[in-house]
Amino acid sequence: MKPLKIAIAGLGTVGVGVVKILENHKQMIADRTGRAIEIVAVSASNRGRDRGIDISGYDWSDNALDFAGRDDVEIVVELIGGSDGVAAALAQQSLSNGKSFVTANKALIAHHGTALAACAEENDVALRFEASVAGGIPIIKSIGEGLAANRINKVYGILNGTTNYMLTQMEATGKDYGEILEETKLLGYLEADPALDLDGIDAAHKLAILSSVAFGVKTSFDNVYMEGIRRIKLVDIEYARELGYRIKLLGISSLSKAGLEQRVHPCLVPKSAPIAIVDNGFNAVVVDGDPLERTFYEGRGAGEGPTASAVVADIIDIARGHRGPAFFVPVAAMTDAQPISISDRFGPYYIRLHVEEQPGVIADITAALRDEDVSLHVMLQKGSEQDGTVYVVMVTHETQELRVMNALDRIDALSSVIDKPLAIRIENL
Ligand code: HSE
Repeated sequence: MKPLKIAIAGLGTVGVGVVKILENHKQMIADRTGRAIEIVAVSASNRGRDRGIDISGYDWSDNALDFAGRDDVEIVVELIGGSDGVAAALAQQSLSNGKSFVTANKALIAHHGTALAACAEENDVALRFEASVAGGIPIIKSIGEGLAANRINKVYGILNGTTNYMLTQMEATGKDYGEILEETKLLGYLEADPALDLDGIDAAHKLAILSSVAFGVKTSFDNVYMEGIRRIKLVDIEYARELGYRIKLLGISSLSKAGLEQRVHPCLVPKSAPIAIVDNGFNAVVVDGDPLERTFYEGRGAGEGPTASAVVADIIDIARGHRGPAFFVPVAAMTDAQPISISDRFGPYYIRLHVEEQPGVIADITAALRDEDVSLHVMLQKGSEQDGTVYVVMVTHETQELRVMNALDRIDALSSVIDKPLAIRIENL
């Protein structure tokens, strides 16, 4: 069989990893697919940069969009990034010109996944994006193929390695958020725009993709509720531990008769939950389906090897002749699920207040909670800070989010309350 020719747009960390795997494992991959895979062209922003790989045997293009017009190229591999611009144009043009398209670009798929899947279907080519969610963990194929007999009810996980690293390091070292943030920056773990990691946007991109894969709903990134880790203090991690929990930034998606719930935010999870012990740069995803019930996937969510592993798996899939729908159901069968507002979440909450140490403060706070019908399960106040202020930590019984937020608005307005109150959702997973 004639070799399958591919072009790679983007030679950053992941692009270099893809080249290495395809060259170093050439024969093994050919044996597995029955077809040699040949890189014919590459493109990147800087031709002369030393990447530690030899690219002299490939055609060079300054403009990745050239690949969409090359007759010899069967698969365009996009590793540029960004939801729009060159990546989006390359996807659209490649698919329209009858080329399969493989990408690690979570923002692109979260924003344009349904439209690109439709374009792939119209042109009878494949759109694949395994590397866009949880790096090296084959979660998309696991859900779409291995769990194909199941109705998925819920999917959740640690989808951002950088913030998981930061939370782990805060707990391990006893350093506060600001110090760990500086260390993480120096290690180069943060995205070029750190807000993508710190504000939960990166995890939300991945969650929107998972929702479509798991539930067959159209990708709806705009309906993902997002909250990052910027407000988590060391004191929260310490109190959570004392209460039997760890703090994790989770993406949670579930589909029920009421609609589709998609949210990314820090959570208190029981120390005994499998996801609670996934630390540092690791990702984990839990899928709950009928009839299989819970399955758990863990692995490296970023970096050269893990991400390139997933990209090459997609290329191999296409080389084997697989052309199925990108989200495992035809686009015509994908649904528009009714989004569920975060205000409707029902569950327990951890609340942290920083207040003046003076008579009547607790009475004012509990009055606000009482008026909103929020019942307390635990209340902690330890010692007094040197400056006459103190942290008060409460755990509520299950309640509606709107009630907690209304009470916290009132508490925030009290003159004795120093910092904006923080509520962290408790997920008894
Ligand atoms: N910034 C991402 C993370 C990279 O930390 O998980 C992988 O998508």
